[in-house]
Amino acid sequence: MPKTLTITDNRTGKQYEIPIEHGAIRAMDLRQIKTDADDFGLKTYDPALMNTANCVSRITDIDGDRGVLLYRGYPIEQLAENSDFLETAYLLLSGELPTTAQLNKWKTNVTLHSMLHENVKKFMEGFRYDAHPMGIFLSTVGALSTFYPDAKDIFNEQSRLTQTVRLIAKVPSIAAYAFRHSQGLPYIPPDNELSFTGNFLNMLFRMAELKYQPNPVLERALDVLFILHADHEQNCSTTAMRTIGSSHSDPYSALTGAAAALYGPLHGGANEAVLKMLSEIGTVDNVPKIIKSVKSGERKLMGFGHRVYKSYDPRAKIIKQTADSVFSVTKQNPRLDIALELERIALQDDYFIKRRLYPNVDFYSGLIYEAMGFQPAMFPVLFAIPRTVGWIAQWEEMLLDTEQKISRPRQLYVGATQRDYVKRENRS
Ligand code: SDX
Repeated sequence: MPKTLTITDNRTGKQYEIPIEHGAIRAMDLRQIKTDADDFGLKTYDPALMNTANCVSRITDIDGDRGVLLYRGYPIEQLAENSDFLETAYLLLSGELPTTAQLNKWKTNVTLHSMLHENVKKFMEGFRYDAHPMGIFLSTVGALSTFYPDAKDIFNEQSRLTQTVRLIAKVPSIAAYAFRHSQGLPYIPPDNELSFTGNFLNMLFRMAELKYQPNPVLERALDVLFILHADHEQNCSTTAMRTIGSSHSDPYSALTGAAAALYGPLHGGANEAVLKMLSEIGTVDNVPKIIKSVKSGERKLMGFGHRVYKSYDPRAKIIKQTADSVFSVTKQNPRLDIALELERIALQDDYFIKRRLYPNVDFYSGLIYEAMGFQPAMFPVLFAIPRTVGWIAQWEEMLLDTEQKISRPRQLYVGATQRDYVKRENRS
């Protein structure tokens, strides 16, 4: 059986054989379908790119119906169980799991780049005490482009690696400083003897003690959460990273745009919105009322639903298991019962079943972050830290893809046809 699509244009009676590859046809193959020589040819119309592949990728694969998530072919469940965040970062960026020697070199390289230029701290001091940490985060990442002008040399592999290490190493420092700024506390310098997540906890929570000792359960829980959030194929913020990067912007500027996209409550800002929703619900008794308001279309159930997953988000399952370990060392989050009751009712209600709405990665993550001592405003920042790895991996894949060029979609123009200017005195 030929892998082609036969299209008959009923306007002309002409037939066209369009090749099918990887379950898709090339939109440009439709341009030959014209009514006459002056015709531009057929375009595809796909608002929000619901059914459009804008790249070929080898990084992350999602099976939304089966709830499967693979990083470079490895199941997310196995990575969460056996790997750590920096090893998973190496895998996403290079395509292969590192040897012990490679991993040790990689971890040392990242560790040695976690400090921020003193001027960056002064820049961050300029924010109000109540500035949203995500606003501080994306502004400061953008500002880093002025500290590393060599980042513009995007086709130099060594330069890309240098910026990659700088970004992965510095985003936790920026996040921690934003958190400390919001608390009116002094910045804590990195401790190179601690792990990636252990040092992050140190920069966040060290007070008067000379040496911060991270709680190993929380250190591991954060590592698992970072693994789960590292990449997710062509989501909104990754598409922003690829689109901005396609104009050959430096990676700091592109990542600023990606972080801005993640900030939205429909995307990475959902974890913060979930906590606000759970706080508003207040008690388990109020759950039926919120479900009713969702079903009447008054609001969305934040942390539920997904463009790709039409089954349980595999990351939500792992986060739920991780919550148990976190709550074993922190006090149980009282909002967990509300979340569990919301899930229980929603998963048996036809409104959600019919629309295939399940908990996504953001539904339970905020409960863990809150139990660890973070305010909801920090949650999107905790998403952006690990997703920095995915954004960079996808950006580099786009840059090296010979089929890619500057992203510039078409439109279907339905506005006014050409008309002449009317002088003000002649306007009614
Ligand atoms: C992330 O893309 C990624 O991979 C993202 C992400 C990643 O790792 O990068 O996984 C991270 O962003 C997770 C999603 C976090 N956002 C939320 O939890 C916000 C709440 N969710 C919704 O806004 C929504 O589910 C989206 C945005 C996530 C997906 O929206 P879609 O795919 O555009 O689906 P839709 O809006 O077309 O919904 C289809 C139907 C609609 O009902 P009808 O118009 O058919 O009657 O389902 C309804 C929607 O109203 N619906 C919901 C709902 N989500 C969809 N109804 C109530 N509550 C919801 N949460």
